[in-house]
Amino acid sequence: MSQVPTARNAALDLIGAVLRRRRPLDDAIDENPAMHLLSGRDRAFARLLVATALRRLGQIDALIALCLSTPLAPRAAVVHDILRLGAAQLMFLRTPPHAAVATSVDLAHGRGFLSHKGLVNAVLRRLSIEGAERVGAQDAARLNTPNWLWQSWSRSYGEETARAIATAHMKEAPLDLTLRCDAEGWCGKLQGTLLPTGTLRRPAGGSVMALPGYSEGAWWVQDAAAALPARLFGDLAEREVVDLCAAPGGKSAQLATAGARVTAVDRSTRRLDRLLANFGRLGLPIEAVVADALTWRPQHPIDAVLLDAPCTTTGAIRRHPDVPYLKLPEDVVRLSVVQENLLRAAIEMLRPGGMLIYCTCSLEPEEGPERIEALLRNGAPVRRHQIDPAEIGADPDWITEEGDLRTLPCHFAEYDGVDGFYCARLVKRADA
Ligand SMILES: C[S@@+](CC[C@H](N)C(=O)[O-])C[C@H]1O[C@@H](n2cnc3c(N)ncnc32)[C@H](O)[C@@H]1O
Repeated sequence: MSQVPTARNAALDLIGAVLRRRRPLDDAIDENPAMHLLSGRDRAFARLLVATALRRLGQIDALIALCLSTPLAPRAAVVHDILRLGAAQLMFLRTPPHAAVATSVDLAHGRGFLSHKGLVNAVLRRLSIEGAERVGAQDAARLNTPNWLWQSWSRSYGEETARAIATAHMKEAPLDLTLRCDAEGWCGKLQGTLLPTGTLRRPAGGSVMALPGYSEGAWWVQDAAAALPARLFGDLAEREVVDLCAAPGGKSAQLATAGARVTAVDRSTRRLDRLLANFGRLGLPIEAVVADALTWRPQHPIDAVLLDAPCTTTGAIRRHPDVPYLKLPEDVVRLSVVQENLLRAAIEMLRPGGMLIYCTCSLEPEEGPERIEALLRNGAPVRRHQIDPAEIGADPDWITEEGDLRTLPCHFAEYDGVDGFYCARLVKRADA
């Protein structure tokens, strides 16, 4: 980037990377040179700016469209992004109007869109006057949710719940930590809240590495719902567990902390390196294997397998507001085939009587209950072992009629929500 490295310039590159190059926001941040030059505070502001614009994109685009007599030409896509970031500041981040407008006009100038400076100024000035009233009249949950997701959630959970899910996505998720031990003690030191499921929760923001307990490996970052599946094996002391699709290792760390001998398998060397770095900080033992779980097999049948399968991640939109703009219905179809194949591979690895925990952070039924129903219908040698909410401190409403775990972002509203996770527990038949 040839521009001066400022937070707003970086944010402009990032939103373009997500919306046009379809890069995940976290990858775009890693790949953006300016983000590495900015101060921690400016980096955080750049991320907040892009995340807010993405969370509110439907509302923001509707506001911009109201102010334009004709849509912007495709070659002025960057101008559209400048307006989006400007509107996000004006409407949702309480940036003083003069600052939001002037810095947006400067961005247009810096990017060579000299003839658009007047338009940027006029649109944002108008929004600074009329915007709040117009925002008040918008159906925010509906506007910020792509049609296919709205329809999928309305079909699966009913429209009222779809709306509650979409509403939860508009807020930044809190910081959730899984503690190794001494929950009460760390709660005090970290000034957090201990959730009924055992996760420690703090408001989002600030540097994670600067928090007490980080360097001594007392905890790791993991959403409260993501921390539930690994606890469904029961007592793990000295048991051998294979964690397929393991990186970056939140669930492997839980298994190892519970005393299991863990083999972590992942096909991504880069992500498995992160897992090893995390385990180094935590001082936990692990055997890490770079391999494709579809073809890799353990040397002998295994007692317990955790399969946290790759998915569309539509359950984690609170944490990844880029997901609605990166994923498409065809990804659900493609990934459900991968999930089915991974499930079959996982079952092959189990000894008779062995346990498989299958989970995804997707809200789409095709990536959750439908995979398990298809498996059972097609005669796979497993039976469901229903989940009791008391095992994991879960709300009984999170357990489906079939006995699977189904959390939604609108659950735990009194604590600020959880990610959407689906999880089923299966046991391999003794005669298999
Ligand atoms: C949902 S993430 C796993 C998160 C992890 N379980 C945790 O708790 O930190 C999915 C992982 O699956 C890995 N993956 C995808 N397809 C795979 C395959 N065929 N074999 C092994 N790993 C795979 C990806 O590299 C990614 O790291």
